[in-house]
Amino acid sequence: MSAPARPNSGVRSPARAAISARTLRTDRWWLPPLLTTLGLATFVVYATVRSFVRSAYWVDQYHYLTPFYSPCISDSCVPGSSHLGTWVGALPMWIPLGFLVLPFLLGFRLTCYYYRKAYYRSIWLAPPACAVAEPHGSYTGETRLPLIVQNAHRYFFYVALIVSVVNTYDAVMAFHGSSGGFGFGLGNIVITVNVILLWAYTLSCHSCRHVTGGRLKHFSAHPLRYRLWTWVSTLNTRHMQLAWTTLATLMITDFYIMLVASGTISDLRFVN
Ligand code: FES
Repeated sequence: MSAPARPNSGVRSPARAAISARTLRTDRWWLPPLLTTLGLATFVVYATVRSFVRSAYWVDQYHYLTPFYSPCISDSCVPGSSHLGTWVGALPMWIPLGFLVLPFLLGFRLTCYYYRKAYYRSIWLAPPACAVAEPHGSYTGETRLPLIVQNAHRYFFYVALIVSVVNTYDAVMAFHGSSGGFGFGLGNIVITVNVILLWAYTLSCHSCRHVTGGRLKHFSAHPLRYRLWTWVSTLNTRHMQLAWTTLATLMITDFYIMLVASGTISDLRFVN
């Protein structure tokens, strides 16, 4: 079998060792990329279906609102679910009610440094694993469309901060009793844990690390920023785990609210 054509860049370039086999590895190097693909696909399918389905996203009795519909600012939102008011009229079914923030949250996750590594390897196969040649013949990095958009990550980070504030507001509003006043149930725990982890994921962002400690020549002259950078850096070491955990907590939160809103289960109440 003849070796593949050798372009001027990439793993088949003349400067690289001429090995025709894709890899000499004999272990199950394909397992991590496969699991990553399955994990990401599960979230994408679930989030897409739930974002468009327009049902069971609001528990009027306890003011639980799923994060996939927050903020709900359209006349199409069910009464009570628009914490921030309605800014636009009724929307056709092909526009998700959470349209205001979904593109930014999607952009934030897609351009995240960790997710880039995950889907570059598992979906783009560039490369799928160490010592496994990628199928692409050339490499242009993140210097051209569409990947040049990855450089906008810091701007998505700023929007994600605002979204986290909105999610926090939703979580506070959810401490609502069935007959008004204060109430507290299992749903509050689910929603609050999700918001805390979303904050942890957002603040552990590499852009946040740069915002707090970047462009400084001497940390000694900026003790407050140094302290913030230290905290963010500690969180940052858990960024991958937080990336996966928050995908799970987002789905769990939405699923729990869906079950309660649809009447499938009752919320476990500690203070009604
Ligand atoms: Fe992952 Fe910024 S690097 S959210």
